[in-house]
Amino acid sequence: MVDTFGREINYLRLSVTERCNLRCRYCMPECGIEKKPHSEILTEEEMVMAVSVAAGLGIKKLRITGGEPLIKPNILSICRHMSEIGGIEEVSITTNGLRLKEYAKDLAAAGVSRVNISLDTLDKEKYAYITRRGELDGVFDGIEAALAAGFSKVKLNTVLIGGFNDDEIRPLAMLTRKYPVDVRFIELMPMYDSGDFGAEAFISCEKVLEELPELMPEPMPEPLSTSARVGEQSPERPLASAKEGVARLYRLPGAYGRVGLISAMSCDFCAECSRIRLMADGAIKPCLHYDREFMIKGLDEDGMREKFVEAIAAKPKRHGWLSYANRSNAGRNMNMIGG
Ligand code: GTP
Ligand code: 5AD
Ligand code: SF4
Repeated sequence: MVDTFGREINYLRLSVTERCNLRCRYCMPECGIEKKPHSEILTEEEMVMAVSVAAGLGIKKLRITGGEPLIKPNILSICRHMSEIGGIEEVSITTNGLRLKEYAKDLAAAGVSRVNISLDTLDKEKYAYITRRGELDGVFDGIEAALAAGFSKVKLNTVLIGGFNDDEIRPLAMLTRKYPVDVRFIELMPMYDSGDFGAEAFISCEKVLEELPELMPEPMPEPLSTSARVGEQSPERPLASAKEGVARLYRLPGAYGRVGLISAMSCDFCAECSRIRLMADGAIKPCLHYDREFMIKGLDEDGMREKFVEAIAAKPKRHGWLSYANRSNAGRNMNMIGG
């Protein structure tokens, strides 16, 4: 479906649970979350119905998120059913990786083709601090299991936090030379009432370019790459880079994978945004930083279709600039929205 601003909406992010086995400081408050009763969460059947309806409206890509999707007991069945829905061409998942050792092969067999894994530090104590409970070794077991399971792509997500991991940009990016993975650096978004790291914690993605002068932009698809070749941009480091979804792509010399920059604080990708979100309680969110939502819990197919159409029509042109002083208007924390 095409929205009011001419954008083709073909990507749905489905948060299957608000719950998580971690409590990342930028994602949830320390006290965790108030557990909703099962009656307030979409059933598997409702999720399948909603995604089928969305596929009928032009959704082709589905990303399963959370909370942590791999703590949902029926996650394999959800993935299998989603990948069987006509029109859904790709099912991917975003996870903290801790349960991937156990699940990677089965997820691949259930039709999941790509996996994104959160990894904010390479230091065990810092990992335990930022997640308030996690063990770093488990994430690496998960990364290795994902690579062995044969997904078409594995990406690592690092939220940049000044005073926490800005000294690890190089070693984290170097993982692209050790493993066939992409490493993406994400600007920290000040969400509802999740951790507040102070104004100095906001680090722009440009810091990654400063720290890694040898990073080269991945070539733009033709015909724009032609203009780069004829010298409209500096030959040392052309300004333009290829984009994939919300990430600008670069590469270290000799790397298997790419380094991605996700400038989440500005709205530099709103103009091309193809996404909507469906959360575990049944609310459709047309934009990550917009509090307007459309509830489909309990509706039949026709009712759900109507809400999807309304939600897509209500998708705003852009979200405003976020800053330390100007927090997101999402009205929810990231564990509910799923990023
Ligand atoms: P693919 O492009 O399908 O690989 O997924 P992705 O990079 O969008 O998904 P992932 O779950 O790995 O999210 C990476 C980061 O991008 C998270 O911090 C998300 O919150 C952020 N993100 C995803 N979509 C948007 C968006 O529309 N706006 C903003 N500001 N951030 C987004
Ligand atoms: N700012 C930026 N990224 C965030 N994520 C969670 N909370 C935030 C935030 N406040 C990221 C996680 C995960 C992805 C789904 O969203 O690290 O990789
Ligand atoms: Fe859980 Fe992901 Fe939130 Fe961390 S960022 S608490 S892993 S949902």
